[in-house]
Amino acid sequence: MGNFKHRIVYQIWPRSFKDSNGDGIGDLQGIIGKLDYIKSLGVDTIWLSPIYATGNKDYGYDIDDYYKINPEFGSMEDFDELLHKSKNMGIDIVMDLVANHTSDQHSWFQEALKSKDSPYRNYYIFKQGKRNKKRELLPPNNWLSAFGGSAWQKDPNSDEFYLTLFTPNQCDLNWKNEKVREGIYEIMRFWLDKGILGFRMDVINTIAKKDGLPPAGKGKKLDFPFEHIVSLPKSHEYVKEMHEKVLSQYEDVFTVGEGMVTSLEDLNAYTRPEEKKLQMMFQFDVHLIGCGPLGKFDFRKGYRWTPKELKDLIIHWQTGVEKGGGWLGNFLSNHDQPRQVSRFGHDGAFRRKSAKSLALLNFTLRGTPFLYQGEEIGMTNCHLKEEDWRDFEAINDYRVLQEMMHLPKPLARKVIQKMTRDHARTPMQWSEEKNAGFTTGTPWMKVNPNCSYINVEKEMKRENSILSFYKKLIEIRKSSEALSTGSFVPVDTENKKVLSYLRQKGEDTYLIVINLSGSLAEANLMDVSAYNFKPVLCTYDALPFMPSMKLQPYEGRLYKV
Ligand code: GLC
Ligand code: CA
Repeated sequence: MGNFKHRIVYQIWPRSFKDSNGDGIGDLQGIIGKLDYIKSLGVDTIWLSPIYATGNKDYGYDIDDYYKINPEFGSMEDFDELLHKSKNMGIDIVMDLVANHTSDQHSWFQEALKSKDSPYRNYYIFKQGKRNKKRELLPPNNWLSAFGGSAWQKDPNSDEFYLTLFTPNQCDLNWKNEKVREGIYEIMRFWLDKGILGFRMDVINTIAKKDGLPPAGKGKKLDFPFEHIVSLPKSHEYVKEMHEKVLSQYEDVFTVGEGMVTSLEDLNAYTRPEEKKLQMMFQFDVHLIGCGPLGKFDFRKGYRWTPKELKDLIIHWQTGVEKGGGWLGNFLSNHDQPRQVSRFGHDGAFRRKSAKSLALLNFTLRGTPFLYQGEEIGMTNCHLKEEDWRDFEAINDYRVLQEMMHLPKPLARKVIQKMTRDHARTPMQWSEEKNAGFTTGTPWMKVNPNCSYINVEKEMKRENSILSFYKKLIEIRKSSEALSTGSFVPVDTENKKVLSYLRQKGEDTYLIVINLSGSLAEANLMDVSAYNFKPVLCTYDALPFMPSMKLQPYEGRLYKV
């Protein structure tokens, strides 16, 4: 199957993938029923978002028990069946590892709550509250949670608070405690022993926190403690230890780190092979384009960005990681992001065209490509009214935007509707039947009404479909060493709309030309005109290479010598 650089990963968010028993919730048997479909895409790896026992406050990222399957999704037998059936088809399974926090229902936390002397107290981050002049008890510091509001929750039985950097029921683990680390390593061994390929590691660069938990930013007001939690040297040490004690004990464990605001240096330091930490990591700069410094709901830049900015970001990461000796996991969609055609392309008239070009981009960059359920048919954002929102982040930040940022309701609603994770979580559109063929019952979340014309069944019947474009692209990528591991050489870098680059290895040379804009553009490729390029895959007509080429809106072309 080649190594991690050659894999193509399909991400499943199980709750919205396929329901097999009519309760309106996607499940493991649903996935098993769709393995043939996944296989037909040409992918060899599935990343499953969390399927462990959970209270669903953060839909699986709040884990009650890492050794149990969420009963809504099925049983351990169902999981074993999925694992074995997919293996027989040449597909490996990567699990989500949430090691920064457990849910407040996890037995460690339940024990920790029992008393200040509990041996489990030190598994989490408890700290004495502060008293103000009026002797009122306040949280120990001004840390803001990633989902808005204070990052501290009051312990009902003492004057202490515990740290929750995400939802109030996701309790940050104390990685300084060796028992915590051992506990996590044991979980990893349990799943690896079952035969999974590896892990996607949730917010892995925030596991260490600055000693003493100093105030964030300038002090008084609630502020996100980037400088005290993101990629501290200790986080690197812990990951190294994890590698030594667990990952290196198995053959070829697949690892991809997810991290908050990873910098280039940092990503390289996590993923250079000689560091013995992770194989690859995601970066989010591209996804946060047009957002303010506080992240996706920081509207202060008006979500305005230009194709040139997007292009420069891509080039910065591509060349920086290649130089730095690291490795990227590339993706344009996941369960935390709006749909890629809506965000980076066009979900109206140019939906098909932009869906294909974005795919061309993601599958020809240097790094391991990830695709997210539904992008292969060009699924779009969904108009969601307040009562359709399911995600805590959206619901909480809606309040925070109004209360803390003093945004009028209609504007706050607009901000949420633009960026909510719920867009990625509407059910997979299988057919034009009721509920898009996702369930025979009542779906747990609104189905996008455009399923009448955007669905797998229709795509399969259509000529020149987005789906068939993905299949071709995946096949090309898999058969080419240049596209998998070759170098990335940008050309025509000053062009404001068109991103062009070579992928090269040995004699093998590809040229990729993508108009990132919704208007006509022109690529200037004099610098590479000595090559004898032939078109391989194009989103419009397969036109011959020319030193200067006019491109249609969102047009993308792949050439090969
Ligand atoms: C990661 C996950 C996201 C989750 C958060 C807290 O960012 O991708 O879905 O809410 O971590 O676990
Ligand atoms: Ca179900």
